[in-house]
Amino acid sequence: MDCVDRPCSHRRAIRNGVLKKRKSVKLYYKHFRESQVFDIPPGWSVLEALRASGIRHASVCGGRGRCTTCRVKVGEGMEHLLQPSSSEAGVLKRISAPDDVRLACQLHPAVSLEITPLLPATAAPVDGLSGPGYVQGQERKVVIMFIDIRESTKLAEHKLPFDVVFILNQFFSEMADTLEDTGGHYAQFNGDGLMALYGLESDLQEASVQALQGVQQMMRRLEILNQRLSVELHQPLRMGIGIHCGDAIVGQMGPPKTPIVTALGDNVNIAARLEAMTKEFGAELVVSLETVSAAEIDFSAFPRHEVDVRGRETQIGVYAVEDSKSLPVPAI
Ligand code: FES
Repeated sequence: MDCVDRPCSHRRAIRNGVLKKRKSVKLYYKHFRESQVFDIPPGWSVLEALRASGIRHASVCGGRGRCTTCRVKVGEGMEHLLQPSSSEAGVLKRISAPDDVRLACQLHPAVSLEITPLLPATAAPVDGLSGPGYVQGQERKVVIMFIDIRESTKLAEHKLPFDVVFILNQFFSEMADTLEDTGGHYAQFNGDGLMALYGLESDLQEASVQALQGVQQMMRRLEILNQRLSVELHQPLRMGIGIHCGDAIVGQMGPPKTPIVTALGDNVNIAARLEAMTKEFGAELVVSLETVSAAEIDFSAFPRHEVDVRGRETQIGVYAVEDSKSLPVPAI
């Protein structure tokens, strides 16, 4: 931390004197597909070792343990590290960092260590303390929603590229506004559909209700959009939505300059398959029994099915909803 009591050079000299008998340890640095190995001289911090090796690493506060932008995920060697100091622990707590995340500027390993940087070297102050815990990567319960435009290839057949882009952007704008209104988060885009997450800032019960409210609002907005674009559209836009909930790995992922918070795992795959089932059932929405149970909403008016889902040994219960505007959800 800061050199408060003595000049930095004095403290460094003492530290070097005390530690001169220790050997260097290795730093295994993993960044995407790259893996490099560096020596960490005795007493040096991980940040100092990276800088000395010419590796650009975020350090907005200059290594004073305040900004958290230098944070790294520690792999092998974690079990041999000393506990963080009270000031490092306090800063890590403010970003809800998991136990295997440490500040590179405060970490002086005496054993070889594997680390992965968590923020790009270009991280700004706002990237530091502002990130909630799930940004660094967490397993947590979320509601996963997949939305897909039906027969989008036909839309492209009848339109100029400019018109297709215009129509799709109108559609995605309506969906994004709905997510914002109902507490959802855009998590992936795939050309004619998107994935959204609910539950990043709410518990599973609230998130399940919000997701169902989101479906209802999306369908209403789509109806209005179809009226607005009736001249441009050969036939009204239609969409299918699949919803499931459960544990998923949530975190900020993607290319360093354009990462997004998204989710991975079996439950994400199941939600995607439920969306595909909307075509088989001729339904606007296929939602898992688990999500409906979590929402504590009576769905007995809708047909229930037991379905096979690839990757699951047992069948799962789902409800197929033909007209999502009639969902029995509380008004927003
Ligand atoms: S560089 Fe700011 S906390 Fe490490």
